[in-house]
This record gives sequence, structure tokens and C-alpha cells, in this order.
Amino acid sequence: MYFWGFILNIKKNRIMRKKIVAGNWKMNKSLAEGIQLAKEVNAAVEAVGELKCDVVIAPPFLHLTEISKVVGKKVSVSAQNCATEASGAYTGEVSAAMLASAGIPCVIIGHSERRTYYGDTDAILAKKVLQALANGLKPIFCIGETLSERDGGITFDVVNTQIENGLFHLSADDFSKVVIAYEPVWAIGTGRTATDEQAQEVHAFIRKTVAGKYGEEIAENTTILYGGSCNENNARGLFACPDIDGGLIGGASLVAEKFIKIVTAF
Ligand code: PGA
Repeated sequence: MYFWGFILNIKKNRIMRKKIVAGNWKMNKSLAEGIQLAKEVNAAVEAVGELKCDVVIAPPFLHLTEISKVVGKKVSVSAQNCATEASGAYTGEVSAAMLASAGIPCVIIGHSERRTYYGDTDAILAKKVLQALANGLKPIFCIGETLSERDGGITFDVVNTQIENGLFHLSADDFSKVVIAYEPVWAIGTGRTATDEQAQEVHAFIRKTVAGKYGEEIAENTTILYGGSCNENNARGLFACPDIDGGLIGGASLVAEKFIKIVTAF
């Protein structure tokens, strides 16, 4: 009896993965509007008795430092992208070192809009992840299939390739600092959310893929977020799935009232 209780406890203690709700503001809000929204989110988060997740907001680059000043300890600020290179003649880019120097702790890497509109390939993203980690930033690494890939029955292949090419060059120690966001492209900004079952199925596959490379313990401790039309109405069902550890929220993160309902949907 005693022995099995002990073993059970060890197993339980080994699973420490964090729940996270992150708001991806994309290219929205003027500086003044962004500061206002950040203040509203911060006040709403402060008003929650006991938070069951970490809360992150990802405003545009320009807003990061000002917004960092208006949020308290319960809200972290993330960038939405970073450069592949450390410094130098790369007009228009922002390095991970610059983000770190401004006190920004996280960065979203590989969002489908970056992959689709700005040519961020797996190879480019693999470099960005290294830059982020080298500068002490937590990468929120996005993956997900398009509608035609899902309809073609290759969702698992696509996700597997994105993980392998984008993340599997990392040491186990570095990998354990990464958050993965599964965002089916057909669900992003479309109002068409993956069902709980569809999302859970891919999340479980992602965890299994991670276990195959880095082992069961690291896989169990990897936070895997769902993104794609996640909102105040469907978050609770999604977050109740065993392999879904929170969400990366686009549209619904632009309204503090909606965002806080998602933050408290565990
Ligand atoms: P959405 O965006 O919630 O507006 O679908 C999610 C995302 O792109 O991260």
C-alpha cells in the first residue's frame, strides 16, 4: 500500500506542466489603445482570486516596453516574432537580445501568418528558436495544418514535420523551455474551432512525438496550447481535454472581458 502510494506520488510530482492563456494581438491597436487594453486585462487578472494559469499578452513590437510598465506580476508580455540573427545589418528586424534587454520574457515563433505571408520556413524558425533560447526568452512555437492538409489526411505528418524541423535540433534542456501551440490554420480567425476531440487527438499526437524524441518525462511536462477561434464559449471544453494546457487566443484577446473569461475557463 505504502509503496504504491509512494510510486503514485512520484508520478504525480513529475507532471508539473504549466497552464497558460496567451493573447496574440497581431497587428491591432494603436499605442494608446494597447496601453488601455493592457490596463484592463491587468485589472481583470488582478481581480481573479486564484489564477489557475499563467497569463501572457503579445502586443506589437512597438508597444512592448510601454505595456510592460502598466502590467503587474500576474501578466507577462510576449513579442510576436524575433530575428534569425543576433545583430547587424538586418533592416526592420528586432533581435531576441533586444527583446531580452527590454525585459520581455517570451516570444511567439512560427505563427501560421508568419509562415504564410512572410515566408518563415521551418529552417528559419529553427534559427529563431535558437536565438530566443540563447537570450533567455521562452518560445511559444506554433504548428498546425491547413484545411487541404487536414482533408488530405496528412495532419499528423504535417505537425510531425513542423516539430521535427523546427524544434528537434534542441537539446533536451532547451526543449523543456519551449511551449508548443497547436493552431490548425483552418480554425484561425475563421470562427470555425476544432472540436474538443479533434484538438485533443492532435495534442496527444504532439505529446507522443515529443516523448519519442525527448522521453516521457519531458513530454508530460511540455505545455501544449490550442489556438484557432478559441473564445469565451468554447474554452472550457477545450481546456478540459487531458492534453490541452491552455490557449493562444487571437480575436478574443482584443476585448478584456472576453479574454478574462478564457483565462478563468479552467
Ligand atoms: P484567433 O487567432 O483566435 O483569432 O483564431 C488565434 C491565433 O492566430 O493565434
